[in-house]
Amino acid sequence: MTEKVYTDYFYNESAYNTHDGGYIPLEVPDIPQQPLRIPELLKPDQETDTDMYYTLTAQEGETQLLPGAKTKTWGFSAPLLGKAIVMKNGKTIHMHLQNHLPEMTTFHWHGLNIPGPIEDGGCHAPVYPDGHRDIQFKIHQPAATVWLHAHPCPETAYQVWRGLAAPVIVQDDVEAKLPFPRNYGVDDIPLILQDRHFHENNQWDYRADYDPDGVQGPTPMINGTINPYFDVTTQRLRLRILDGANRREWRLHFSDDLEFTQIGSDDGILPEPVHFTHLMTTCAERHEIIVDFSNYKPGDEVILYSDDTPLVHFRIHEFAPDHTQLPEHLVDIPDYEPDLPLHKVVMSGMDEYVMIDGKKFSMQRIDYKMPINKTQLWDITNTNDMDGGMIHPFHMHGLAFTIVSRNGHAPYPNERGLKDVIAVNPDEHVVIKVRFTVPGVFMYHCHIIEHEDGGMMAQIQVYDPKDPDKQYDLMDHETLMKAFAEERGVDMKDLWLGGMGSYEKMGMTM
Ligand code: C2O
Ligand code: CU
Ligand code: CU
Repeated sequence: MTEKVYTDYFYNESAYNTHDGGYIPLEVPDIPQQPLRIPELLKPDQETDTDMYYTLTAQEGETQLLPGAKTKTWGFSAPLLGKAIVMKNGKTIHMHLQNHLPEMTTFHWHGLNIPGPIEDGGCHAPVYPDGHRDIQFKIHQPAATVWLHAHPCPETAYQVWRGLAAPVIVQDDVEAKLPFPRNYGVDDIPLILQDRHFHENNQWDYRADYDPDGVQGPTPMINGTINPYFDVTTQRLRLRILDGANRREWRLHFSDDLEFTQIGSDDGILPEPVHFTHLMTTCAERHEIIVDFSNYKPGDEVILYSDDTPLVHFRIHEFAPDHTQLPEHLVDIPDYEPDLPLHKVVMSGMDEYVMIDGKKFSMQRIDYKMPINKTQLWDITNTNDMDGGMIHPFHMHGLAFTIVSRNGHAPYPNERGLKDVIAVNPDEHVVIKVRFTVPGVFMYHCHIIEHEDGGMMAQIQVYDPKDPDKQYDLMDHETLMKAFAEERGVDMKDLWLGGMGSYEKMGMTM
C-alpha cells in the first residue's frame, strides 16, 4: 500500500506572517553550532502508586546563549524555559509552586483538563514574589505533550518571552503500548521553537521590540539554544514540537525534503499517522513527529528548516537498524453528539484593535456559561481580511476539543485528533466540538500572546448542573496593576505594560 504524503502547508498563503508589515525574517547568527539543550526532567519530591509530588520554582537566571555576556533569562526550576515535567494519567499531582521572581506570576497548565481558575493557573491565580501556592489535581486525559507557561494578563507575553515556558509530558497506558521512540533525551526530545532579538551585551529588551501584533526577533532559539545541533544515535527520532513563540508561525521541512510522520497533536496521539514533507505550526500548537533517518549514514547531516532558515542540525551517528512499522490505526478518539445549540465566537481586529465578540477582555466578566459533560459545536470565525489578514490561533483552557470542519470542508489531515489550539485563517469558519469535564472559570483567546494581553480573550464559566450559580473569587485588573506597580517601584500611571498600553490606546479603562 502506498501512503499519502502531504507536501503543502495547508494554510492560506496570503495570511502568512511573512506578509505582515512587522514581519522580521529569521537569520542564524554566525556562531559555532551548540549542542541542543534538552530540558532536564523535574524530579518528583515523592511518587506513590496514586500520587506525584513536585516543587516548581519560577526563577531568574542567566544563560550563555551567544559568545560573550550571558543573557538574563527566566525559567521554571531552571535558568531558562524549564525542567520537563512528567505526569501520569490517573494520578493526583501535588504542586508546590514557588515564586522567586521580582514580580507576580502565575503557573498555567496549557493543555491540562483540570479545574479553573485556580488549578488552571490563569490570571486569577497569582503567586506573589517570595510567595507560594499549593495546588493538586487529578490527571484524566490521554498521553500528550502539553506545557506550562506564565499567564498574569496583561503580562503574559512579557513573562513567556522572558523564558517562562516548560514542556509537560502526560503519559498513559495506551501510548505506552504503541511502537514509538520514548527514551527521553535520546530518541524522544522536546523541540521548543522561539525567536528573540539580542540587543547590546546579548540582552533582551521586550519594550524595545514591542509590537501589538506579537513580538518577534530575528534569531531562532530552539530549546533555549542558538544554532543547535543534535547527535542522532537511533534510526528513528521522536520530536515533540511546541511553537513557544509569542507570534511566529514556523513552516517546517527537512533537507532533502525528507518525509516525516506526525503521530500526535496538541492533546493526544492522532487516530492515524499522517505523512508529510512540510508542516506549518502556529503559536502554542504541539506536533509530535517521528523522523526516520534510515537513508542516512554516519557523518551525514539532516537540517530542519523554517522557510529557508536552518533551525537544528541533526548529526547522524551509527545506529542499529530499526524495522518498526507504525500501525495504520493508533488510537480511538471519543465522539459525542451535540446536546446544545451552536455557539459562535468572532475574533476580529489587528494591532490594538483585537477583540473577541466585539469586546475586550475583562477579568470579572463571564462571557459565556456552559454545563460540564455536555457537547456543543462552536463556530470560530476570523473576520480579519485587512491586507490579507492574519491567522489567529484560537485556544481554550480546561479541555481538548475536536475539529469538525473548516468552511464546511474536512479539517486538515493532522487535525483529526485532540487539540486545544486551532489556527483560523482570515474569513474562515472553523467548527469545533467542545465538551468540558471539569467545572471552573476558563479563558479562551488568541494565542498570539500580545493579542491575548491586548484583550482578544474571553471567559467561560463551566458549571456542574448541581451548582449552576457557584461564585468564584475573580481577580480584577486594578489589583493586578497595583501589584506590578509596587513590585517595580513605579506609580501606576507610569507602569509600562504592552497589553495594558493597548487598552489605553483604545480609551478603555482597566
Ligand atoms: Cu497557553 Cu491562556 O494559554
Ligand atoms: Cu491555556
Ligand atoms: Cu490574534
